[in-house]
Amino acid sequence: MPILIPPIKSQGIKSKLVPWIQLLLHNAHRKPQRWVEPFMGTCVVALNIPAKSYVLSDKNPHLVRFYKSLQSKEFSHHAARKFLLSAGERLREEGEEYYYFVRERFNSSGNPLDFLFLNRACFNGMIRFNKKGNFNVPFCRKENRFSAAYITKICNQIEKMASFLQYNDIKINCCDFRDVIDGNEEKDTVIYCDPPYIDRHADYYNAWDEKDEKALHALLLGSKTNFILSTWHHNKFRRNVYIEKLWSTFSIITREHFYHVGANLQNRNTMTEALITTLNIQNKSFMSKNQDQYNIFNIST
Ligand SMILES: C[S@@+](CC[C@H](N)C(=O)[O-])C[C@H]1O[C@@H](n2cnc3c(N)ncnc32)[C@H](O)[C@@H]1O
Repeated sequence: MPILIPPIKSQGIKSKLVPWIQLLLHNAHRKPQRWVEPFMGTCVVALNIPAKSYVLSDKNPHLVRFYKSLQSKEFSHHAARKFLLSAGERLREEGEEYYYFVRERFNSSGNPLDFLFLNRACFNGMIRFNKKGNFNVPFCRKENRFSAAYITKICNQIEKMASFLQYNDIKINCCDFRDVIDGNEEKDTVIYCDPPYIDRHADYYNAWDEKDEKALHALLLGSKTNFILSTWHHNKFRRNVYIEKLWSTFSIITREHFYHVGANLQNRNTMTEALITTLNIQNKSFMSKNQDQYNIFNIST
């Protein structure tokens, strides 16, 4: 099945990791009844994992508002089309001035459609907020960004995401992960955690330090159910020391992934991602069959 792509983009989006997570669940013979995702971000992972119910949350209120508004039918893909057609036209006519006008309006009102526009007209589809909590990504400098085909593509993504959110049992909350993982999870739950990568780039909603990593470790350790944690393993220059410090007693699966963080080649870094899990991996050589596709080279338990 092709991976469904959400309408919101972000530098940390895990679309490329979805097949790997699906494969891991399949290999561990797990079809989660309940999928808990305390760092939902763009929602791409939940969107592609079948479950009976979902608990999705994030600390970033703008992501949460966007998906909650879609779920409660506050706006539809039709409304989004109308909005993007008109905003795209003004962007064509007024150029970057219009982008910055919307950015300012968004920073005072938090309107979800402004968020969508900015997310699709900003530099590299990044989501970044400054110390005051204001969206501060510059314009991508493409005045003709919103072609008819591009708007249709975004609206199709909104329509699919809306069906997912409206026709499934899904709770969406804006909160810290500590308020979600509480040790009372039922056995048939799988918790998927994709926190900001420790020791890497951070912004207002992505501050992450040793205290957070340790708190997450303690909560997952105390949970009665299985978890999958995404993190980075190493790059050319250094290793993630917390793998050794905190996570080495769990199964660790690594894989190469070309990670796009910036527009320049210098900013592009080959980094090895890791999935850390308590799932019972049945077939320890399952990755080698997929080596071409996934380039996974190590499992340790
Ligand atoms: C790497 S991103 C998740 C990306 C997501 N898996 C995706 O594919 O789009 C990390 C997310 O964690 C959220 N976050 C950061 N600190 C948090 C905290 N203490 N509690 C809950 N969410 C947090 C950020 O707002 C961000 O959306």
